[in-house]
Amino acid sequence: MTDYSPPNRVRPDRLQPSPEADTVTGHRHDSVVPLIRWSIMTADRAWPRLTGIAYGGDYNPEQWPREVWRQDVVLMREAGVSLVSVGIFSWALLETREGVFDFSWLDELLDLLHENDIAVDLGTPTASPPAWFFASHPEARVVTRDGVTMGFGSRGMASHSSPAYREAIVRIADALARRYAQHPAVVLWHVHNEYGVPVGEDYSEQSVRAFRNWLRERYGSLDGLNAAWGTAFWGQHYTEWEHVGAPAAAPSVVNPAQRLDFARFTDHQLRECFIAEREAIRAHATQPITTNFMANQSWGTDLWAWAREVDIVSDDHYLWAADPEGEIGLAIAADLSRSLAGGEPWILMEHSTSAVNWQPRNIAKRPGEMARNSLAHLARGADAILFFQWRAGRAGAEKFHSAMLPHAGTRSRVWREVVELGQGLGRLAELQGSRVRADVAVLWDFESFWAQGLEWRPSVDVDYAERVRAYYERLWRDGVTVDFAHPSQDLSGYRLVVAPAQYLLSVDDAERLNRYVEQGGTLVVSFFSAVVDEHDAVHEGGFAAPLHPALGVRVEEHLPLREGEKAAVDWRGERRLSADVWQEDLDPGNAEVVATYAEGPAAGGAAITRNRHGSGTGWYVSTRLSSTDLASVLDAVYDDAGIVPPRHPDGLEVVTRHGADADYLVAINHRAEPARLAASGVELLTGTRVPGALEVAGGGVAVIRLDARPTGGGRTTP
Ligand code: GAL
Repeated sequence: MTDYSPPNRVRPDRLQPSPEADTVTGHRHDSVVPLIRWSIMTADRAWPRLTGIAYGGDYNPEQWPREVWRQDVVLMREAGVSLVSVGIFSWALLETREGVFDFSWLDELLDLLHENDIAVDLGTPTASPPAWFFASHPEARVVTRDGVTMGFGSRGMASHSSPAYREAIVRIADALARRYAQHPAVVLWHVHNEYGVPVGEDYSEQSVRAFRNWLRERYGSLDGLNAAWGTAFWGQHYTEWEHVGAPAAAPSVVNPAQRLDFARFTDHQLRECFIAEREAIRAHATQPITTNFMANQSWGTDLWAWAREVDIVSDDHYLWAADPEGEIGLAIAADLSRSLAGGEPWILMEHSTSAVNWQPRNIAKRPGEMARNSLAHLARGADAILFFQWRAGRAGAEKFHSAMLPHAGTRSRVWREVVELGQGLGRLAELQGSRVRADVAVLWDFESFWAQGLEWRPSVDVDYAERVRAYYERLWRDGVTVDFAHPSQDLSGYRLVVAPAQYLLSVDDAERLNRYVEQGGTLVVSFFSAVVDEHDAVHEGGFAAPLHPALGVRVEEHLPLREGEKAAVDWRGERRLSADVWQEDLDPGNAEVVATYAEGPAAGGAAITRNRHGSGTGWYVSTRLSSTDLASVLDAVYDDAGIVPPRHPDGLEVVTRHGADADYLVAINHRAEPARLAASGVELLTGTRVPGALEVAGGGVAVIRLDARPTGGGRTTP
């Protein structure tokens, strides 16, 4: 079973006792202890041999002649580039035929980069096997759920269960590590590229065989499998292991427990491939090893489990151009990356200087936007700001993707901003290793998302990503910094835990949440949560039954609304909140009814409840409120949790990074108008003194080293 405790790379024997921990609340952030821990972690963790905030991007020199390489390094130095990712898609040029290697060009390139003081994050090229590989191993191609065998000429394409593929990835990873483990330019290894995309589920014969073996190990017997999958339904009972297959497309909906297990199996197969490469590298090399996640933009991998396997968390994030407030999705990605890293610094491995090329409408970033994006990642814990890619490529599918050096060359706005950002990050070196703290955790559970995403749910309008965004957005607008957490983690350090989309919740994890409330925590649970167990079977006792101690309510029936239907909620007789998509027949038991349904099928019934349990409080919100209407709920919840949200001017994003010697406010102004920020210290990008307040220019950024650390007193969560 997956261990979901957050990664902790500090050896326990090196942790100091916590003499200043608050013995009343047990809240870890009230003392200076985290800082002591951090200085120990800094010495122990596997951050690359780099100083300051790393800057750079994917570099694909194999697409260019040698004279361009020499221009590249000159321009990289001009831009302040300190780290480039190399070789991610170079397999065909490194292993020209099976077992025949040509490292001459890479030797030359790494030497050139090293001579120019540019460090290398060396990729293993296994996301793009060469043509010769598929010619020799046609069976290694991926088969889709509809039975289509994938062709060549793209990337991905290989079955992660293929023995031939697995042999080949270890061979190339081993060869690279043997050759470059000692190369002075190499400070980090970058295995593969974005596991799970474009290849996730694979329905090839080898994958089906591996799935069967995985199931045998998981369930031990066919009886165990039949029980877990509920195969008495629709006559799916299995009598032979050989009859068990992948959940390929079928005339009607396929068993959801089988599909959920296939998602888990797929994640497991991908991770096995990562581990095989990692071990091949570790046999020769001591540098840290990572693979680039897509924290909130790809859902096929259980990144809590992956985070335990990498030395450093790295993430790729691209703005969704259709979202007018892409900065909120960006903040989710960054907070999730930091949380996956257990609070340690992480690498923004890829983002874009301007437009991408793969969305329906690829919107160019406007002046200042790239810097705002970069600083927002840094604010939330990234210690490396990298892009896809260094130089815009002339050929291939990504030629319309922006780059640090665009097609227009150095006489361009993008280039000028790239140079300016490099200079700015150069002035922020002292932030390296400083940390972000949060009093609020939002639950994030990939398995639950997989299960909820399957067919035949009560309403297609219920969307887990939308609910996470709505709650997060409310917290973001209130200036409250958030961690993400898995429900099995120890949550006792948080004043508030929000569960916006916890459809699948095991009884054990529910008990943990009940205890969290009993012991003084504040919990907010949104509708359609704790509905099923880990096999996608409805909980005994009914929907949300395992959370009854914390919430005090019984959900009798789900009452989804018609498309577009609105149904108002009456909040404490004071105001009406507009709701849609969902109502419930709710028995509030002894819980306080804070809001009732004013209309719709549940009119007159309880809509939002608040329950005292032990010394904490459990809130249940049984309908869909917009992030604006959620303000009423969260204002009351903050009171219960003892949180005073800082509420900066509209559109001014402010996050604090806490260092060993100082605290830093990172402020990003997403509005066109200037915004005032109260602070005393030094603005590091300009070197100017901030005497009590700073006006952050419209669209501008600021990083302030504070004169003094905030002193206890009234709690805020900056
Ligand atoms: C990423 C990928 C890169 C590049 C980029 C373009 O997902 O890792 O190789 O394709 O997208 O936005």
